[in-house]
Amino acid sequence: MHQDGVTVIDHPLVSHKLTLMRDKETSTKSFRQLLREIALLLCYEATRDLELTLVEIETPLTKMMAPKIAGKKLVFVPILRAGMGLLEGMLELVPSARIAHIGLYRDPKTLVAVEYYFKAPEDIGDRLVIVLDPMLATANSAVAAVERLKERGARNIRFVCLLAAPEGIAHMRDAHPDVHIYCAAIDERLNEKGYIMPGLGDAGDRMYGTK
Ligand code: PRP
Ligand code: URA
Repeated sequence: MHQDGVTVIDHPLVSHKLTLMRDKETSTKSFRQLLREIALLLCYEATRDLELTLVEIETPLTKMMAPKIAGKKLVFVPILRAGMGLLEGMLELVPSARIAHIGLYRDPKTLVAVEYYFKAPEDIGDRLVIVLDPMLATANSAVAAVERLKERGARNIRFVCLLAAPEGIAHMRDAHPDVHIYCAAIDERLNEKGYIMPGLGDAGDRMYGTK
């Protein structure tokens, strides 16, 4: 499903795995495994339009011109902590990607994103950058991460998440209309504490078994 600047990956496997992740009875081990599996499927869609170039190769039988991905290696940017869960699956499909890290946490009272770590390749401006975070709630974290990457020179950025709130999508589209969003589902709303409803709870806590 496509709306302006947003692709919802409504594949039966994604929907099924997402239901298991939402279930509060799902164990930490299964939650992590499911996130990795869904990340593969999200990665497949978020890279569907990558440009190809023809190169000459030799099969055991003959020479041929065959397609390879053009340009420099991609950069994946997990937003710590929960973005690390998506990173694993993305790297299984694109093992040679470069990785930038951005550490952000949401202040529980103000919901403002507070940065505590940033490290990115110098030549990020020449590469397709894919930011990873399972949850797009208020989008304060995603907006801050993209701002930071743009400051560093990134020009071609996509955002991959699992669940998005309508409020988060609106905020992100407003702040960064150039950044396409890929997600597995758009939920109903945010609650008064900024959690996505019905959601899956706190993605970082469920991944790492904290709380
Ligand atoms: C969660 C989540 C996102 C953020 C989304 O992180 O992983 O980064 O909240 O919320 P937002 O769209 O309102 O900014 P959290 O701050 O709980 O940190 P953690 O990943 O370290 O648990
Ligand atoms: N962060 C989460 O981990 N879950 C939410 O529902 C909102 C923000």
